Amino acid sequence: MAKPVSIEVWNPCGKYRVVSTKPMPGTRWIDLLVQQDCRVEICTQKKTILSVEDIIALIGDKCDGVIGQLTEDWGETLFSALSRAGGRAFSNMAVGYNNVDVNAANKYGVAVGNTPGVLTETTAELAASLSMAAARRIVEADEFMRAGLYDGWLPHLYNHPFSLLPSLLVVMFTVYTLGQTVGVIGAGRIGSAYARMMVEGFKMNLIYYDLYQATRLEKFVTAYGQFLKASGEQPVTWKRAASMDEVLREADLISLHPVLDKTTYHLVNKERLSMMKKEAILINCSRGPVIDEVALVAHLKENPMFRVGLDVFEDEPYMKPGLAEMKNAIVVPHIASASKWTREGMATLAALNVLVCLFQSYEQEGLNTNGLVAAKRVFWRSGDNRLFAPSCSHWLHNFHLM
Ligand code: GLV
Repeated sequence: MAKPVSIEVWNPCGKYRVVSTKPMPGTRWIDLLVQQDCRVEICTQKKTILSVEDIIALIGDKCDGVIGQLTEDWGETLFSALSRAGGRAFSNMAVGYNNVDVNAANKYGVAVGNTPGVLTETTAELAASLSMAAARRIVEADEFMRAGLYDGWLPHLYNHPFSLLPSLLVVMFTVYTLGQTVGVIGAGRIGSAYARMMVEGFKMNLIYYDLYQATRLEKFVTAYGQFLKASGEQPVTWKRAASMDEVLREADLISLHPVLDKTTYHLVNKERLSMMKKEAILINCSRGPVIDEVALVAHLKENPMFRVGLDVFEDEPYMKPGLAEMKNAIVVPHIASASKWTREGMATLAALNVLVCLFQSYEQEGLNTNGLVAAKRVFWRSGDNRLFAPSCSHWLHNFHLM
């Protein structure tokens, strides 16, 4: 028998039982579920990653839907348990769903949702932040200051490779991005948003690789290039690469945005790392196993001018031995979507996913769900507005007009 897990209950008399495996930001998601007559049970167990047994205990004998997290293993065992408890809906509070076995969900008749859209810009922003932090060596500079090593401005400070002077950091040039090439592997929503930030913000040329043509992105770079040309500036350019290797060879800064599946596991391995420029910067805000982290650590050791910015890790929450000691690596704890607006939005979308799935089923039993479906549409529209309008003006304001 699995041990009981601690929970917080909202609307105890609700007709439908919906479980969230974690407390999530904001209250809108709870209000939405409660308004639709759900009893909401939130797991409050003080344990970061719940085991399959913990989640089985949470599901119990009767459960209509679950909102889960990317750290959980949603496979055969959990979907069969949810189905036995009468469950029809599961939503990951994440855009990535490599932790979800969709075939198993189908087999047990459970609909699955994820939370794309609301985190596009926020995730791209972190990839852009890591890019600039790596290029301008912000983390090392911060350590340098705090260690009391700054004894006055010098022409060579931070700009002298392999200096032997003790008051200077013994590493590389900073990178000035203007006129350099940004490479994007996976030009979907997040990859495209990142590409736009780097192209528009730092006037980088773009090379991308994707199975699908990113027409909208190409049009954007073309139009922006024309704008620069008309202003007497060097235009930016774009190229759709025929292979991923072409991107790795040509780009100065490369950001990975593929989904994680069998075809993208260890996509960046020893051989591919060796194709990249010695001074390249590699960013990963997608999923850790896309990079062979052992090979990466070896590459970082052998190539001190190579830099990496990682939000995700192969064996999360752990790092492969040696990574934490590498000065040419910036590591952050999977925070790409971590803004209040975005995380509240993800929680809201996850709740709507569960409700829409439940009520689509209940509709067949005569329940009216028009309000709910409309709510989902409105939410999406506000997400889209944020994606395409304010972001442009924000970057324009910061980098071109000031
Ligand atoms: C975060 O990593 C997500 O997939 O949403």
